[in-house]
This record gives sequence, C-alpha cells and structure tokens, in this order.
Amino acid sequence: MKKNVLITGTSTGVGLQTALLFARNGYKVYATMRNLSKATELETYIKAESLAIELLPLDVTKNDSITAAVAKIISQDGKIDMLINNAGAGFAKTTEEATEDEIDWVTNVNYTGVVLCTKAVLPHMRKQKSGQIINVTSVGGLVGQPFNELYCGAKFAVEGYMEALATYISDPFHIKITCVEPGGIATEFMKSAISKTTIDGQLATGEYAPIFERYMAGIQKRGNESKLNL
Ligand SMILES: NC(=O)c1ccc[n+]([C@@H]2O[C@H](COP(=O)([O-])OP(=O)(O)OC[C@H]3O[C@@H](n4cnc5c(N)ncnc54)[C@H](OP(=O)(O)O)[C@@H]3O)[C@@H](O)[C@H]2O)c1
Repeated sequence: MKKNVLITGTSTGVGLQTALLFARNGYKVYATMRNLSKATELETYIKAESLAIELLPLDVTKNDSITAAVAKIISQDGKIDMLINNAGAGFAKTTEEATEDEIDWVTNVNYTGVVLCTKAVLPHMRKQKSGQIINVTSVGGLVGQPFNELYCGAKFAVEGYMEALATYISDPFHIKITCVEPGGIATEFMKSAISKTTIDGQLATGEYAPIFERYMAGIQKRGNESKLNL
C-alpha cells in the first residue's frame, strides 16, 4: 500500500505545492482545506495528471473537523504515515492594537491547530510504531520579528511543543518530528496578512504607524522577490 500523508491548508501556496509534490512522488495525499470551494486549482492538477489526491474538509480551528478527517483516513487506509501541519496565517499588528478575538484566532490557527492535528494522529502512529510529523513553522518561529510578536509567539510555541514532544515520542514509537522554518515566500500569505491587519485602512495607528509601514514595505519587497519553486 502507498504511504499516505495528511496535509493541512492545501488551497493555496506551500500546502498546494506540497500536495502536488508528494502525489507526484508516489504518496496517497489527503489534501485538506477549510473551504473545499477553494480546491479548483488543485482539482485541475489532479485531473490533468491523474494524481492520487483526495480532498477532505479540515479547519484547524475546529476539532470536530480534524477528528472527522483523521477517522476517514483510518477507515480507508487503516493507517496514517505522515502529517504535515502547514495551515497557518500571518498576522502583524501590535499587541496594543490586537483585539482579544484576534489574539485567540492567530494562536488557534498557528499553534493550537497544530496541537489538535497532532493529538488526532498520535494514537494511530503510536499503534503503528511509525510516522512522521512535519511542521511548517517560520523563521519567525526562531527569531522574533518587529510587529509580528503574536504570530512569532505562536510559531515559537510550535517549535517548543514539538521539541518537547519529540523527547519521548520519537525513540519508543519511531515517530519522527521535523520543523521547517521558511523565510519569505511569494504566496497568498502576505496579502491575507495585510488584509487582516489594517485598522481603518492603515497598518497601524498613532506612534506605531510610520515604523510599521516601513517594516511592512520591507517584508513585502522581500516576499515578492522570492519565488515558490518546490
Ligand atoms: N509565505 C511566507 O512568506 C511564509 C513564511 C514563513 C512561514 N510560512 C508558513 O507557511 C505555511 C503556509 O503558508 P503559505 O505561505 O502557503 O500561505 P497561504 O498561501 O496563505 O496558505 C495558507 C493556507 O492555510 C490555510 N488556512 C488558514 N486558516 C486555516 C484554518 N483555520 N484551517 C485550515 N486551513 C487554514 C489557508 O486556507 P484558506 O485559503 O481557506 O485561507 C491556506 O490554504 C503557513 O504555516 C505559514 O505560516 C509562510
């Protein structure tokens, strides 16, 4: 039986390209996304190349959708070889300006969702005594970046969580844990981060505004200069 992989956040960007890469290399891919109406691009590739990719709904902020996706994979294949925690969202707003709901959201999408997906696959990988969990964190999960403290905090949390988990899960159960920390990549990421973080059309207000705008212009430029080429 083919090795299988569950990937979160495959509607665009790194997740979409990773789904294609694994399918083209012989994996059975479970490409998940929170909104299946955004699967059109992936579906075009699946059809054109007859790829072994199955689309499943999964919102990393909704535990029911995570457990349902994992249950479906187990019912079909009886195993889960790999989880790629890719879903995530940028957020750049000062701590003072972020609302409580925004703080919850950025933490849930980038950190708690990773914990919940990991929790859902672990019993199966432990039983199999094999598995791999790959996490797309960020260079912002290793180095704190200006105005990015809430996103960086969540990505640092993934690094710490995975490092701690690996100390007792890797050896006895042969479950490998890997964190990948990309820098800027030209995906929807920057656009959606900026759209979520404006306040009355501005990136920040008051004394923070000029400092913030200078910083965002710099990261946008670096993002545009890089190329997604997996
Ligand atoms: N691009 C960069 O510069 C960069 C740099 C460092 C790290 N990263 C990390 O790389 C990963 C992939 O990002 P990307 O660059 O490919 O950005 P992207 O094109 O914006 O893709 C993000 C993916 O996450 C999904 N997502 C967001 N909220 C979700 C939720 N609640 N449940 C399930 N999926 C959800 C998005 O789905 P929707 O389409 O439904 O929103 C989308 O499929 C992220 O973890 C990001 O933090 C990106």
